Amino acid sequence: MRIILLGPPGAGKGTQAARIVEKYEIPHISTGDIFRQNIKDGTELGTKAKEYMDQGKLVPDELTVGLVSDRLAKDDCKNGFMLDGFPRNVTQAVHLDEFLRGEGIKLDSVINIEVDKDKLVNRIIGRRICKDCGATFHVEFNPPKVEGVCDLCGGELMQRADDTEATVSKRIQVYLDQTTPLIDYYSTQKIIKDIDGDQDIDKVFEDISSALDNVK
Ligand code: AP5
Ligand code: MG
Ligand code: ZN
Repeated sequence: MRIILLGPPGAGKGTQAARIVEKYEIPHISTGDIFRQNIKDGTELGTKAKEYMDQGKLVPDELTVGLVSDRLAKDDCKNGFMLDGFPRNVTQAVHLDEFLRGEGIKLDSVINIEVDKDKLVNRIIGRRICKDCGATFHVEFNPPKVEGVCDLCGGELMQRADDTEATVSKRIQVYLDQTTPLIDYYSTQKIIKDIDGDQDIDKVFEDISSALDNVK
């Protein structure tokens, strides 16, 4: 299964991706997570990416597209993959199509998670992620069993550096300007499926699962 998850910041891409990759046994490839790992490791890529992420802007394509094709060329992607947060503009989508064509493979589905703009800010401001394993929680909508502690690994929960109110509005604007054209792009390819992301987490997953089971 080769899947792309589309949706605005805070739509629940990471939350749903964690469940999808478990069900379909495919790797979860999140460009945001890759950049955050590079920041944590203090790499040159991390230093460059951080400058853009902290402002809510897209990291330049020349730092992003090669990274994704290198990742997709790895052995664990042979039976499929789940892309979360890539592509994010038409240039990236065209690069991805060229890569897939070169490999002789096709996308199975683009899952477009829809959530109203006014709900996104609360989701993002209340988000907490585990410092150690990256698991995602929400202080109100998906609270950990013990406040501030990861249910999965016991790690400390923290806020993402770009989860500030000012950066969030910029990220939403960037999504509207640069990422929403992909909805038309993939509608033309007839592989997009809209999912109502304004339901509880289990129900959203149920809807995504039935959409994916139908393309198999
Ligand atoms: P990225 O890490 O991809 O962030 P994003 O797109 O802004 O999306 P988020 O991770 O904020 O939201 P999500 O949809 O994953 O929601 P989540 O599941 O966590 O990118 C960060 C930055 O990296 C970008 O701004 C850019 O600078 C750079 N970047 C990344 N990819 C790039 C690319 N391809 N090109 C260029 N630059 C790139 O959920 C959010 C919260 O809501 C959580 O607290 C969760 O518990 C809660 N929640 C989830 N589902 C529900 C629900 N159904 N009901 C209630 N609460 C829910
Ligand atoms: Mg995410
Ligand atoms: Zn953890």
